[in-house]
Amino acid sequence: MDLIKQSFSVNFSYNVYFSEDIFHKNNLILKNFFEEYNSRGTKQKILFVIDDGVVNGHPQLIEKINSYFSTYSETIELVDPIILLPGGEEVKNRSNALDEVLDAINTYGIDRHSYVAGVGGGALLDMVGYASAISHRGIRHLRFPTTVLSQNDSGVGVKNGINYFNKKNFLGTFAPPIGVFNDPVFLRSLEERDWRSGIAEAVKVALIKDLAFFEWLENNADRLRQQDEEAMKYLIFRCAQMHCDHIAGGDPFETGSARPLDFGHWAAHKLEHITHYEVRHGEAVAIGIALDSTYSHYTGMISRDDLQRIISVFNRVGLNVFHEKLEEGRTLQRGLDEFREHLGGQLTITLLEHLGKGMEVHEMDYDRIEKSIQFLKRYSTQKV
Ligand SMILES: NC(=O)c1ccc[n+]([C@@H]2O[C@H](COP(=O)([O-])OP(=O)(O)OC[C@H]3O[C@@H](n4cnc5c(N)ncnc54)[C@H](O)[C@@H]3O)[C@@H](O)[C@H]2O)c1
Ligand SMILES: [Zn+2]
Repeated sequence: MDLIKQSFSVNFSYNVYFSEDIFHKNNLILKNFFEEYNSRGTKQKILFVIDDGVVNGHPQLIEKINSYFSTYSETIELVDPIILLPGGEEVKNRSNALDEVLDAINTYGIDRHSYVAGVGGGALLDMVGYASAISHRGIRHLRFPTTVLSQNDSGVGVKNGINYFNKKNFLGTFAPPIGVFNDPVFLRSLEERDWRSGIAEAVKVALIKDLAFFEWLENNADRLRQQDEEAMKYLIFRCAQMHCDHIAGGDPFETGSARPLDFGHWAAHKLEHITHYEVRHGEAVAIGIALDSTYSHYTGMISRDDLQRIISVFNRVGLNVFHEKLEEGRTLQRGLDEFREHLGGQLTITLLEHLGKGMEVHEMDYDRIEKSIQFLKRYSTQKV
């Protein structure tokens, strides 16, 4: 028998920068970044793809980007035009949005030493990251997340993708960005629901990893509801930090079956789908967490008081814990199978051992799921 054994590892590193007004001429973070990543002997280009929801909220944005890059044109060349696409889940559902980005990468000669930058919510960033990852087998990709959810969760991680065969994230890759730039100025134009929906991901990491952070969320729920920017900056930083630590310390490309960061997500993904994405990802995650927390309670893992604390945080920040579509029981149950299929391997669901610590299980009892749904229904209609 002839045999060649092959094994190597590839190191990935990227920074998540937190800085206000990132495209202001006096803000040198980006300029310094491009100088650091300069490839000798090549003129690097940057192609911007922007979520039109962000431009509506920040009408000067395109002018600002143009002016920033004309000031530093020695360092990097901005591709003209900047591409604008509709934000939200639609951009992951329509393949013509992906085609438009691929077409621009081709037309403007964006090579592997140049950059594709996405500015937008999690949906746009997922799609732009995917377009960058599959073009020329991977172009440098920069993210400028503009929603709470993308700044504290999706934008700082390593996954991207689009929906296909009517299934969420069916096409996608693990492809870390080369830099992430979180600018709080973008958050000022968010609709209230996009402000609060990202809070669900912070509750998620707190519940499975850090009781002290959960207590901080309890103590600051009212400030968060009132759109206090300082409170939100802390929430985003702490959540992004825990998210990054988890990715670096565990299984970044998810080769095993465990997915603690997907706590609450099996039902959330199904709910997003059956509501035709009328329910935002973060809103669905809050409901999914409430469901799996209630299930954890009925399994004897967390007390009624602890369950009450979780539901109360969601209530106080303005996130619902029930949606009538949860009652389409069998449909929801299919979510478990789809979740397993998407992740691969053995079904692995994270429940709560106690506040601040997740615990994996490999099966769920349908009657107990049903009982949990009924509890949340009663809770949300009459506040039991
Ligand atoms: N890759 C990952 O690891 C990962 C993790 C979690 C979620 N996601 C994905 O992220 C997506 C959800 O992202 P989201 O919650 O950021 O919402 P979103 O991207 O769907 O955006 C919601 C809305 O906000 C608008 N918007 C974005 N930024 C704005 C701003 N600054 N001002 C005003 N409007 C703005 C958008 O145009 C859109 O209409 C889902 O597709 C989800 O699957 C990916
Ligand atoms: Zn999520």
